[in-house]
Amino acid sequence: MRLVATHEEIGVVTGRWRRAGEGIAFVPTMGNLHAGHLELVRAARGLADRVVASIFVNPLQFNDGADLAAYPRTPEEDRALLHAAGVDALFMPDAAQVYPRGMAAATRVEVPALSGILCGEFRPGHFTGVATVVAALFNMVRPDAAVFGEKDYQQLLIIRRLVEDLRFPIRIEGVATVREEDGLAYSSRNAYLAPPERRRAAELYRALSGVRDAIVGGRRDYSALAEAALRRLESVGFRPEYLGVRRAADLAPAGPDDRELRVLAAGYLGKARLIDNVGVVLSS
Ligand code: PAJ
Repeated sequence: MRLVATHEEIGVVTGRWRRAGEGIAFVPTMGNLHAGHLELVRAARGLADRVVASIFVNPLQFNDGADLAAYPRTPEEDRALLHAAGVDALFMPDAAQVYPRGMAAATRVEVPALSGILCGEFRPGHFTGVATVVAALFNMVRPDAAVFGEKDYQQLLIIRRLVEDLRFPIRIEGVATVREEDGLAYSSRNAYLAPPERRRAAELYRALSGVRDAIVGGRRDYSALAEAALRRLESVGFRPEYLGVRRAADLAPAGPDDRELRVLAAGYLGKARLIDNVGVVLSS
């Protein structure tokens, strides 16, 4: 696995592959890798001849300096995992490579239709930071395909919209959420959970699954379902930010005639901000 730190070098490496007729799949991450990230790498290997992963803890997408400073960084372990997973090049730029004029002066990419709702309502500027860094990384790596997790469902839709609107010639592939045995989605932020909190953390997935099952069972009173699930989360110690039933295609509030839905939630358990979502497809 080749280690690359500069945008010039990643351009040379991927350019050589491109000229040799090899397809490139890209997996952007912020490191501290877990089974979810590795599933994205596995999917990427099935999509192209070469796989590029990146690790960059993107300051532009953090609303809070303390959260950025505390974000877990495990570069040695990450390198070993990506090497073993068959990644061809690992791109680890520093902030000056990504934001050569500094962050405050950086040109930004906005996806307004999807960035102000759900997580965006509670994390102003977050998705502009995500869209901006992903667009810059896409232009540095120039992949044919890029892989993102459904765990961050709103992020996945924002990337799809960005690619469509700005005509990036990149296929975006979504990968189902990888979960621990009790249902908790793998996340770098799970490390912030104290042991008693960790034992309760899977309630988030249970609450979402409960709403999904009720909808599959015929319920269409989405607001009442969401409200009850929110109360249940509060009763086990969460400080929920939102829990809602949305249209899968554009995250607008779901109506009784919508068939493809997503149930999404975010909230704090102790110091950890957890997010999760599940899909529902109704046949009639
Ligand atoms: P990060 O949180 O490191 O996640 C990198 C990728 O892994 C994202 O596409 C995310 O959805 C996916 N992922 C995380 N946990 C997962 C799980 N349990 N199952 C499946 N996929 C999972 O998301 C980011 O970084 C950043 O916002 C980034 C896109 C890299 C831009 O900075």
